Amino acid sequence: MGSWLDSVNIRLMRESDLPIIEWDGEYTRYRKVYREVYRGLLAGRAIPWIAEVNHIGIIGQIFLTEKNPHPDYCPDQSYMFISSFRVKPLYRNQGLGTLLLKICDITSSDRNIRSIFLNCAKTNRRCKKFYERDGFSAIREDPGKWTYIDHQGNIREENEPAWLMKKTIV
Ligand SMILES: CC(C)(COP(=O)(O)OP(=O)(O)OC[C@H]1O[C@@H](n2cnc3c(N)ncnc32)[C@H](O)[C@@H]1OP(=O)(O)O)[C@@H](O)C(=O)NCCC(=O)NCCS
Repeated sequence: MGSWLDSVNIRLMRESDLPIIEWDGEYTRYRKVYREVYRGLLAGRAIPWIAEVNHIGIIGQIFLTEKNPHPDYCPDQSYMFISSFRVKPLYRNQGLGTLLLKICDITSSDRNIRSIFLNCAKTNRRCKKFYERDGFSAIREDPGKWTYIDHQGNIREENEPAWLMKKTIV
């Protein structure tokens, strides 16, 4: 028997998605960040995947960014970094998140990239387990500090102590 997951369309972000991924105001503050991700897509650096269902719309997303070798992450090779990973609450716990992570593996392999990193908030214990089941392991603590310019032009700082997690694709 087919599952509703079979009818989810997973595709790259379009410019017209930008207002929609603000999720009715919950993520409006990241407007410029998302615009930058879209520019990254046009430049070939970012691979923002969107999950969409017919007649419903966007229900999830996962953004991958290809990074150049860096001494703190991968000194010898380019690597991928996952960000803005989320599924709408109504659609959670049914396998979509796992499917999106699988797509990241395939995207990385296609680009000959073997290492994927992400930051998992320390408070998000269930999510850490979810990533561990998917093959990620925590490699070190990360202060989780970053700054960005919000939709009103204000500089905002976020502090969310996290685990830096890594998966190697075999
Ligand atoms: C993290 C997140 C993206 C996962 O998405 P998801 O679609 O719920 O992921 P999955 O359904 O693949 O897996 C989640 C759970 O469902 C279980 N599951 C997987 N396939 C399933 C299926 N077919 N039927 C029932 N349960 C399933 C998984 O084992 C997992 O179990 P857990 O709750 O014990 O961890 C989602 O919970 C989310 O958006 N959270 C809020 C934002 C967030 O924390 N993002 C991560 C930032 S680091």
